Amino acid sequence: MTGLPLWFIERQQARAEEERATRRVLSPNDRPRLALIGCGGMGRADGQIATEFGDIVAVCDVDDDHRVAAVEQFTLDGRAPAAYADFRKLLERDDVDGIINVTPDHWHTLINIGAARAGKDIYSEKPLTLTVDEGRHVIRAVRENNVILQTGTQQRSNHRFRLACELVRNGRLGQLQRANVWLPAGLREGPFSTARVPAGLNWDFWQGPAPAMEYVPERCHTKFRYWYEYSGGTMTDWGAHHNDIAYWAVGLIAPRDVIARPLSEPVPGGYTAFADYEVHYRYDNGVELNIQTTRDDNIYGEKDYEAGTA
Ligand SMILES: NC(=O)c1ccc[n+]([C@@H]2O[C@H](COP(=O)([O-])OP(=O)(O)OC[C@H]3O[C@@H](n4cnc5c(N)ncnc54)[C@H](O)[C@@H]3O)[C@@H](O)[C@H]2O)c1
Repeated sequence: MTGLPLWFIERQQARAEEERATRRVLSPNDRPRLALIGCGGMGRADGQIATEFGDIVAVCDVDDDHRVAAVEQFTLDGRAPAAYADFRKLLERDDVDGIINVTPDHWHTLINIGAARAGKDIYSEKPLTLTVDEGRHVIRAVRENNVILQTGTQQRSNHRFRLACELVRNGRLGQLQRANVWLPAGLREGPFSTARVPAGLNWDFWQGPAPAMEYVPERCHTKFRYWYEYSGGTMTDWGAHHNDIAYWAVGLIAPRDVIARPLSEPVPGGYTAFADYEVHYRYDNGVELNIQTTRDDNIYGEKDYEAGTA
């Protein structure tokens, strides 16, 4: 039998005590009042799950269509959530306990810092930040304002991943030598053309802190993850899940050295993040962590599957 690692229990207990000491205690009858910022595919899915224990009292999106869809989805017993096109206005409300930040990656840091300063607890989608420096600013804002931040690396809450890490960290494999992570390859497509900004989309606000560019549909909804201007390709998209688990298992923070190289070049005028790449970390104790993209789905059958013929 294995139990939770001691470091995990100690850390959780320390945090719980700290929170008990510093925060207003909600009555069990209170349901937290939540605001959803970023109402695309994942935002509306995260918001739906959150309704199991809280109420969505406000939604915000820079795209009218997504905002309207969220208002419709989270209207309950005839009570519609308040709708905002500017998250700063939403954060001024004092009846919001926490936010769910499901904006594209380049917006996570600023919105999370704004929410922390407004005293809101935060559930923020991954990747939590795009740089180490952004991470330091977020940590400072969360600590200074005494709020709780949880990030959407839900594999950490999955007992199978936790058990695997526990076994490694408790020496059940003997001395760890190597961990290999396979990430899906990104999209290697382009060149793309500019287009008129769709009615109802505030493209300037969507870009926010990112470099100002003419509108290209492939830069915007859901595809932002394949551009370095907004994200980091599959290294930050899927890497935020699988690399995170590998770091957890390895249990070491800083590698001695890192070698990273692209395995294909982006198409000129197309997605800017490398689609195929490999990264090798070496740690002081000799452990290697290898990250490699794959275009192979690793699932084989006797027959090829054709949609509609099953
Ligand atoms: N944890 C997971 O497994 C998981 C899965 C999918 C996506 N995600 C994360 O969720 C986030 C959103 O991904 P998606 O696929 O839903 O993207 P999406 O493009 O469908 O949704 C993003 C939404 O945010 C809106 N938006 C952009 N800037 C905004 C701003 N300043 N204020 C308010 N709204 C703004 C967009 O208009 C859009 O509606 C990403 O960070 C992604 O990494 C996490």
